[in-house]
Amino acid sequence: MPVPLLDVNAQNHPLESELQAAFNQVLKHGRFIMGPEMEAFEKEVAAMVGVKHALSVSSGTDALLLALMALNIKPGDEVLCPAFTFFATAGAVSRLGAVPVFTDICPICFNMDVNDARAKITSKTKAIIPVHLFGQCADMDPILALAKEHGLRVVEDAAQSIGSKYKGRQSGSLGDFGTYSFFPSKNLGGFGDGGMLVTNDDALAEFAKVLRNHGAKPKYYHHYVGANFRMDTLQCAMLSVKLKCYGQYTADRQRNAAHYTAELLKLPGVVQADPAHCKCVNAQDAWLAAQNAKIVLPVAYAHNDHIWNQYTLRVLGGKRDELRDYLTALKIGCEVYYPVTLDQQQCFADLPESSRTGCDISHRLASEVMSIPIYGELTEAQRLEVIAGIASWLAA
Ligand SMILES: Cc1ncc(COP(=O)(O)O)c(C=O)c1O
Repeated sequence: MPVPLLDVNAQNHPLESELQAAFNQVLKHGRFIMGPEMEAFEKEVAAMVGVKHALSVSSGTDALLLALMALNIKPGDEVLCPAFTFFATAGAVSRLGAVPVFTDICPICFNMDVNDARAKITSKTKAIIPVHLFGQCADMDPILALAKEHGLRVVEDAAQSIGSKYKGRQSGSLGDFGTYSFFPSKNLGGFGDGGMLVTNDDALAEFAKVLRNHGAKPKYYHHYVGANFRMDTLQCAMLSVKLKCYGQYTADRQRNAAHYTAELLKLPGVVQADPAHCKCVNAQDAWLAAQNAKIVLPVAYAHNDHIWNQYTLRVLGGKRDELRDYLTALKIGCEVYYPVTLDQQQCFADLPESSRTGCDISHRLASEVMSIPIYGELTEAQRLEVIAGIASWLAA
């Protein structure tokens, strides 16, 4: 049985009549730009994540760009961000003429290594962008403490983690800004592009609101150069429908992850990452070798509520591509997020050498990681198919 990596229709089609009603409502009133559904959706998201202000925007990428613009990040400023993340995190920095300075990551949760971030702070560092990768939060307390100590602004890239929690607090709600993405493959997947910017700071929210609309206040009076960062009313109306189901979507993904972990751990050569090795890669390597580990399963830190945007394996011994090809031949969807770290991207080759050093763990994980289907609507039979595929590769 083929198992796709993602099936957006399995989630959207059961809501067809509600989605059509939402669409029709907007069609009827015709306020396609900044209509009433936009404000309603923003209020719903703000209430869900417990923030004062939520601004819908054109994408998760634009949410990052707008956040950095509102924080006045300028050419020559340095902004710390992890080397192992989607391109947009650093792309937004670069588009403002600022310099992304890449930090290494934790080999357990794939998120920013705070000690490495500390070591890379210079007099030009203005902000830090922790990314909550794959649906699990970065270690925010030390990141926030570091930012406070050095007067840095914090933008949480929560594109993959809306609704996940760090020590009971919502991802995206902890920094100066948090940014979400509603790209269709995200946990709250939209019907095209969309994103959200959240903050508890009244002045930052007001400034970002003005910048979202060409920097105009009032209309046609431009004190700043902003852009069109608005999200369509239609998109907001339809996402409101899905937001009501969001608790269930998360529970389904968590069930799928727990099932994978329980079943895959029964296979020889499969272990689960141990949070005890968070700060020590060498100890982890020794432990993995002693267990003759071939595949390492992801784990959620006890202080995190993980929402499993991805369930990402580490395939050891240089065999990742072999397993990927094997599963692909069985028509089991899998994907490598991400094969090339950002410090190694061609477009950043001209950045100062000092902004692209010391990302060894990121490089290694880029050669080991592979994500398997985790979307909420996967059936038990499909999950068992994925598990059987991995089992047969291990036995071959
Ligand atoms: C970590 C991260 N940041 C930013 C983005 C950008 O979001 P969007 O695709 O909505 O522009 C994504 C989307 O893939 C992402 O995964």
